Amino acid sequence: MQTCQILGSGHAVPERILTNADLEQMVDTNDAWIVERSGIRQRHIAEPGSSLSDFAADAVNQALERAHTAAQDIDLIIVGTVSGDMKFPAMACLLQEKIGATKAAAFDISAACSGFLYALHLAKSLMQTCAYQRVLVVAAEMLSSMVNWEDRNTCVLFGDGAGAVVLGPAADGRGILSSTIHSDGHYSNLLYNPAGSRHVLSAEDIDNNLATIHMQGREVFRHAVSSMTSALNEALEQAGLGAGDLDFVIPHQANIRIIEAIAKRFKVPEGKIIINVERFGNTSAASIPIALNEAIQDGTIKKGDVVGLTTFGAGLTWAASIIRI
Ligand code: ACO
Repeated sequence: MQTCQILGSGHAVPERILTNADLEQMVDTNDAWIVERSGIRQRHIAEPGSSLSDFAADAVNQALERAHTAAQDIDLIIVGTVSGDMKFPAMACLLQEKIGATKAAAFDISAACSGFLYALHLAKSLMQTCAYQRVLVVAAEMLSSMVNWEDRNTCVLFGDGAGAVVLGPAADGRGILSSTIHSDGHYSNLLYNPAGSRHVLSAEDIDNNLATIHMQGREVFRHAVSSMTSALNEALEQAGLGAGDLDFVIPHQANIRIIEAIAKRFKVPEGKIIINVERFGNTSAASIPIALNEAIQDGTIKKGDVVGLTTFGAGLTWAASIIRI
């Protein structure tokens, strides 16, 4: 069955930068601890009142221009996010209106940090079964809106941003060679935000942090390394390739130690693993498309390169894909 390829990509982040030094003024932490345990030096944080769909639209417009595609020609928009502008409608619909993709169907998917690779998997399948010609896959997050800024365990980790790709039918051996998605709800208690229909939040609940991120960091870390490794192995096998065939690996940018563990397991030489966590922090679903777009724009990743993408997130969810750019 014919697959699809990336025709163009883009990313956007808020201008405001929050450094580790800034965080030292907010909670009992320090630059050395954050850098050693996470690799993060700064993150981009949206100003209060900003709309995530504006950042997503910025990323999409870059991707459309690079793909030489008009918004009116987009058949489908899938947005991976857990922090859309509103509970509903879907951010994909708000984005559709902002970019003028008048004929597209649009919906969001919720897979936390795995949102981009889940959306990519779905887009590939729908392009194969529904004969869509142009599909937008977007991942955008503003986790700063649900961070407890008094919790040093979590507030140092996350940043805001958006990434997007335009997909079209594959040609010349390029495209998504394989993709795989997984989840295990048994571990939903490791990383969650309890705000939802189960709790109609009172002012007291909000004061008690029922609308913020709760995380068991050490447990998440343990699952992250094994699930990202198994997903990437599975995607390689599906594509009929071995780790040695990968020109680059882009892991979810959650923590430098997780990234280094993945690099070690796949024997990825230095320079072949794309890392930007020090500048953006963990932007959840947006982390892979931001890193991918940066690496394409600065010429690190070139046409024809085989790239392995692997991720994990709340759910737990995990996923991987092999793409020939
Ligand atoms: N500054 C200083 N000290 C801190 C901080 C901080 N910001 N945060 C925690 N500590 C302290 C803890 O209180 C603890 O102190 P104690 O020993 O006195 O109790 C000590 O540091 C060690 O805490 P741990 O949680 O055991 O530290 P760890 O080495 O596991 O690092 C971290 C914590 C960075 C969160 C790590 O577990 C991690 O990265 N886990 C994965 C998290 C992740 O990737 N989450 C998102 C994934 S899914 C998604 O992307 C949405």
